[in-house]
Amino acid sequence: MKKFLVIGNPIEHSLSPEIHNYWFKKYRMFGSNYEKRKVTEKELKNVIEEIKNDNIDGINVTVPFKKSVIPFCDKLDFTAERIQSVNTIIKIRSGPWVGKIFGFTTDSQAFRDCIERLEYNSVFVLGSGGVTASILDALNQDERSLQVFLTNRTRKKAENLKKQFKGTSIKIEVIDWGTKPANKCDLVINTTSVGLKKEDKININFEEYKGKKMVFIDLIYNHKTHFLKDAEKRGNLIMNGQDMFLGQARYAFEKFTGVLPDIDEEVFKLVSYD
Ligand code: ATR
Repeated sequence: MKKFLVIGNPIEHSLSPEIHNYWFKKYRMFGSNYEKRKVTEKELKNVIEEIKNDNIDGINVTVPFKKSVIPFCDKLDFTAERIQSVNTIIKIRSGPWVGKIFGFTTDSQAFRDCIERLEYNSVFVLGSGGVTASILDALNQDERSLQVFLTNRTRKKAENLKKQFKGTSIKIEVIDWGTKPANKCDLVINTTSVGLKKEDKININFEEYKGKKMVFIDLIYNHKTHFLKDAEKRGNLIMNGQDMFLGQARYAFEKFTGVLPDIDEEVFKLVSYD
């Protein structure tokens, strides 16, 4: 029996087991099972030890441990190293790193896929928490040099992210929380946790964007946030976090099994709320 886990705290809300178990069934991997486990920071070392001992075959990591698992990995892939975030851990089975505990991030590639078909030149990013670096990394993979406006309630954290991306192809300008970029922007991405609770509202006034052909993206995927509802009312386009969530799961599944699964209607239903 192969055993996989998603760890986090809280973890009750996680839909990862439904998704991965659906794919195990679909691809006839009947000897594999995926569960969720709530852990504390102190337990991280032991959980990863379970991969070393072959009690667990792979782990997904969610909030708030994407950074704190790093010291327990022997090696990180290029993107995880650069943005200091890990969401997938496995033991390498062949090649030069055989036996080593490897940490990957699949968030960045998943977000890249989400925006692939959109037209944009400049982007407004709200927040500077754990997931924001993945979003900036995805924007940095654009072949053009994108203008990114970054804002965060705690400005210092936005300044630090800007430093982290110094010398890369994106041009980041930090602006005060509550203000908007002076220039036109085509995408507005909420990476903050405001909206996780249904009643949460972001205290930035976007009324001047009424009727504009802009896309508002919220990484929150379990309900339509006020951020998106308001954008819809203003006549802007919207995208929720379901595609990114499924995308990161898809690339993690590939790390676990070697099979890159399809995002079919059935799996999409598992994360749909409407
Ligand atoms: P991390 O990933 O670093 O643990 P997080 O909790 O995922 O942090 O990040 C939450 C993000 O939402 C941060 O950008 C946070 O802003 P601060 O850096 O100022 O804390 C943002 N955030 C959380 N609550 C917020 C609020 N009420 N208003 C504005 N931004 C908020």
